[in-house]
Amino acid sequence: MVVGASRRDFLRSVGISGGAGVLYSTMGALGLAPVPDARAEAYRPPQRSDFTLTGRTGKKVVILGAGIAGLATAYELGKAGYDCQILEAKDRPGGRNWTVRGGTTLTDLDGRTQTASFSRGQYMNAGPARLPQSHVTLEYCRELDVPLEVFTNQNANAYIHHENSPALAGRPVRWRTAKADVYGYVSELLAKATDQGALDAELTGEDKERLLAFLQNFGAIQGRADGWAYTGTDRRGYSVEPGAAFEEGTVLGPPPSMSDVIASGIGQRFSFEFGYDQAMLMFQPVGGMDAIPYALAEAIGRRKITYGAEVTAVTNLDDGAEVTWRSSSGRTRTEHADFVVAAMPPMVLARLNHNLGSDVTAALRYAAPQAVGKIGLEYRSRWWEKDEHIYGGITSTDTDLSTVWYPSYGYHGRRGTLIGYYNFGANATAYSDLLHAQRVERAISRGVRIHGEKYRSELAASFSVAWHRTPYIEAGWVGWPSQSGPEYRLLNQPAGHVYFAGDWLSHVIAWQHGAFTSARKVVTEIHERVMAA
Ligand code: ALA
Repeated sequence: MVVGASRRDFLRSVGISGGAGVLYSTMGALGLAPVPDARAEAYRPPQRSDFTLTGRTGKKVVILGAGIAGLATAYELGKAGYDCQILEAKDRPGGRNWTVRGGTTLTDLDGRTQTASFSRGQYMNAGPARLPQSHVTLEYCRELDVPLEVFTNQNANAYIHHENSPALAGRPVRWRTAKADVYGYVSELLAKATDQGALDAELTGEDKERLLAFLQNFGAIQGRADGWAYTGTDRRGYSVEPGAAFEEGTVLGPPPSMSDVIASGIGQRFSFEFGYDQAMLMFQPVGGMDAIPYALAEAIGRRKITYGAEVTAVTNLDDGAEVTWRSSSGRTRTEHADFVVAAMPPMVLARLNHNLGSDVTAALRYAAPQAVGKIGLEYRSRWWEKDEHIYGGITSTDTDLSTVWYPSYGYHGRRGTLIGYYNFGANATAYSDLLHAQRVERAISRGVRIHGEKYRSELAASFSVAWHRTPYIEAGWVGWPSQSGPEYRLLNQPAGHVYFAGDWLSHVIAWQHGAFTSARKVVTEIHERVMAA
């Protein structure tokens, strides 16, 4: 393009004569400067060379929990040669980062056991399932060679299903159709108001014309002569797809009335994808989210993680700290360390025997556990792709399912695994109160109303997790009544030689990023303390 080329030539000539600084500020003046990019707090891992010539060595650190925060703590301290030992009550690393495959078992707090019978290659990410581009989790994936693929968080072909809205007669609407109608009618209303002078106190005549031009473009509405009307366009989709020769296609229509579209509430779904941590693109590790904890565990070294180790007591001492734990064979042991990093859920930590003070216990109990549930449904065929043209993404519902997720892997394969519900709070406890078979039945009865009978007839296998009923975890995540009060502050500092880490000690709760950054903070504090001693 001539304009672009001449602009580039101009910039090049400024760069040559004035140097990079001049080039950069000229670009800023032209509106071309790089877009600001937020970064996680600067982080420098401890290094072996930090100890050279200082006479110091890495200390012994016992870490409670092999979730992401515990693993990241051992991984980062290990870079400088600290002697880390992780005690993990479960038989695997990852904590809530858990990928369920055929053969995976779960015994919940009620003693009920499920065993997944998913086919080879099928899996569900029972915990974290999507990674935003801004999260340090991606940096760890790069560093640990965990391959990524796109996770489709938003799909124009997925549905919004508001069955409690008489306006839509309980019928699912595709996201694209919902957006066309909501944007269309809102544009019509705003264009009319603007043109009729309702905004004259806010806008100049020129502003008004520009706004009207924007609204025509944004909402695909008619012009002034046609009263700015929204009458529906091919943005809604087609009932007959355009094709060869004379097949122009048949646009889906007519749109529901403005009143029905507003009454349906579908527009209130849209802000989900505006969220800083939910906007596309998003990513997932190839083959399952647990590639991250397994890569960390491998990098740390298998000998450094003890599974089946149930911690019962933590004691701060003058010269370090002591941890008492029970091994899977029932033996009780005590481990002495220079430091302990407690990277377990706060409500579980609160029940340990410890001498860290009643204010620590109270602060740990101040975090409120949240109920969260998910169900994986494996199907014999990928009918959502074949019959409904949905390749990944999420359907939002106003039922107790909350959302239904289509897999962002294995397209066109023989089988596929949906997330049949991912719900919180009262909806999550409504399902967790049921036996697994009843959860399936309830989820299927809702899903059939969206997708029809194949939602039942094609089902091959299922697995459900209720995080708040899962041993050693006991919540999907926690919420703090306040993160500016004394409780949160207390736990963000060490109790003697005992440090706390986890996503729950971050402003990115319920994300691995929160766990990683909390671990980095504690690692930095321990290393600085060791270097200053
Ligand atoms: N990080 C969690 C999610 O994306 C809360 O759903």
